[in-house]
Amino acid sequence: MRSVYWKWGAACVVAALAAGCGGGSGDGLDANGRPLGEGEDPGGPMTASFRSIQAQVFTPVCSGCHAGGAAPAGLRLDAGNSYMMLVDVASVEVPALKRVQRGNANNSYLIHKLEGHAAVGARMPLGGPFLDAATISLIRRWIDNGAQQ
Ligand code: HEC
Repeated sequence: MRSVYWKWGAACVVAALAAGCGGGSGDGLDANGRPLGEGEDPGGPMTASFRSIQAQVFTPVCSGCHAGGAAPAGLRLDAGNSYMMLVDVASVEVPALKRVQRGNANNSYLIHKLEGHAAVGARMPLGGPFLDAATISLIRRWIDNGAQQ
């Protein structure tokens, strides 16, 4: 996860130069505009919380493709959109499944895509490198614990 974190850090620096990382005032705020040091540090070891998964997986690994109006399958995974586009929302590829079904990682299409056994399309992130087993198991635990925001 260290390399993913450094990638995210680099993206944040680039964003800070362009627009102010964290939206405007910049210093001391994270990508969601929350004060650094409050709650979990997104740069620390990844945990099974949504905030940590967003900071260490969805933003750095997925949102390069899954953002904006042309996001694949209409799925935006940037920090402002990912939760409402995942939890209790039907998959476009397999509408019988929710992208994230609270309390049921085995039945969540997001997990099928990350583990490479989805009924439709390719393993995510498209083209790899794929998430390691420890990272996927934290995402599974977040879902099995109720997929809290
Ligand atoms: C290089 C671009 C790219 C990256 C990076 C990428 N995706 Fe995708 N994703 C796609 C494309 C294209 C599709 C539709 C085709 C397919 O499923 O193979 C897709 C489809 C999906 C779907 C199916 C959505 C639905 O409603 O059926 C999920 C879930 C998904 N991606 C999750 C992720 C996650 C999570 C990550 C990061 C770990 C990720 N993707 C990274 C391009 C990408």
